[in-house]
Amino acid sequence: MPSNAKIVISQFGAPEQLEILDSDIPSPQEGEVLVKVSYAGVNPIDVKTRAGLGWAAQHNKNNLPWTPGYDISGVVLKQGEGSRKFNLNDMVTGFIGFPLRGGGYSQYVCVPESELALVPEDISLKAAAAIPLAGQTAAQALEKAQIQSGETVVILAGAGGVGHIAVQIAVAAKTKVYATCSADNLEYVNSLGATGLDYANTDCLKEIGHIDVLIDLVGGDTAIQAMKHLHPGSRVITVPTITASSVCEHASQMGIIGMGILVEPDVTQLEELVKLISAGMIKVEIEQVLNYQDVVTAHKKIETGRARGKILLNMQS
Ligand SMILES: NC(=O)c1ccc[n+]([C@@H]2O[C@H](COP(=O)([O-])OP(=O)(O)OC[C@H]3O[C@@H](n4cnc5c(N)ncnc54)[C@H](OP(=O)(O)O)[C@@H]3O)[C@@H](O)[C@H]2O)c1
Repeated sequence: MPSNAKIVISQFGAPEQLEILDSDIPSPQEGEVLVKVSYAGVNPIDVKTRAGLGWAAQHNKNNLPWTPGYDISGVVLKQGEGSRKFNLNDMVTGFIGFPLRGGGYSQYVCVPESELALVPEDISLKAAAAIPLAGQTAAQALEKAQIQSGETVVILAGAGGVGHIAVQIAVAAKTKVYATCSADNLEYVNSLGATGLDYANTDCLKEIGHIDVLIDLVGGDTAIQAMKHLHPGSRVITVPTITASSVCEHASQMGIIGMGILVEPDVTQLEELVKLISAGMIKVEIEQVLNYQDVVTAHKKIETGRARGKILLNMQS
C-alpha cells in the first residue's frame, strides 16, 4: 500500500519545526470520502498556529502532533458507507476540519462529504485549493458589513489571499472600491476593478472623502490609523482575530461600528464561489505552488505578509 506523507506540527515554534511523517492511508468512515489531495492552501492561521499563537494553537496544544491545513482540492478515491454526494474520481474542494481537525497538509485525507464541493472541469485544482478559507472569509466579511450598491468600501491589504477576492466581490456588488497594497501591487489591484492606494503613503486614505465601510485585513495600528479617515456611523469589519478587540474598542470610542469576524465553513457558499470562478467573475491569483517538501519555505513566505493571492502546496510532488 502506498504511504501517506503528511506534514505535522509536533512542537510549536519556527517553520523548521514542521516535520513530514509517513502514515497509512486512512479508510473513510460512514458519511466520509477518501480524498487524494492534489493541492493544499497555506493560510496565515496555519502559520500562527504552528508558532503557537492564537486560539487554534490553544485548542490544539494537547493534540500534537497535529496536521494543519484547512483548504484542499483533490480527487475522490473511496466512499465510506452511506456517502452518495460524489462519484469516484470526482474532483472536489473543501474548507475542511475547521477549526480543530485540520488535516489538509496530507496526501490522503478522509473528509465528511458534507464539507466538500464538486469542482467542475473548467476550474483547475489549483484554483479550487485557493478559494475555500480565503474566499469564504471575503464573502462573509462583506456580508457582515452589509455593503450596498453605491457605497464606498476600503479594503486594507487588497492584494492578499482574502483581499483579492474581497475586492472582486465588492466591485461586483457595484460599490466604489479602494484597496491598499504596496507600490508593486498597484497595477494588479487596479486590474481587479479597485483603485489601488500605496500604503507607503500614510495619508493614502485622506483623499477618498466619505468612507462607508472598511474591511480591515491587516489589524493593529494599521487599522487604527485607517479609522481616522472614517466618520461616525461608518462600519469596520476587522478580520485578524488577534487585534480584533482592540480595533473594535477604538472604533467604539470614535462612534464607528466595529465588528470582528470568525469565518465559518459553509459548503453552499463554497459552491457559489466555485460557480463564480467558473463563470469568470472571480479570478483566483496564485503567487506560488511549492512542493509539499518545501512547506518551510511556504510558511516563511506567508510570514513575510507579502504574498500576492495564495500560496499552495503540491501534495503529490
Ligand atoms: N477572522 C478570520 O476568520 C480570518 C480568516 C481568514 C484570515 N484572517 C486573517 O486576516 C488577515 C489577512 O489574511 P490573508 O489570508 O489575506 O493574508 P495574506 O494573504 O498573507 O496577506 C498578504 C497581503 O497583505 C498585504 N499587506 C501587508 N501589510 C500591509 C499593509 N500594512 N497595508 C496593506 N496591505 C498589506 C500584502 O500586500 P503587499 O505585498 O502589496 O505589501 C499582501 O498582499 C490575516 O491576519 C489572517 O490571519 C482571519
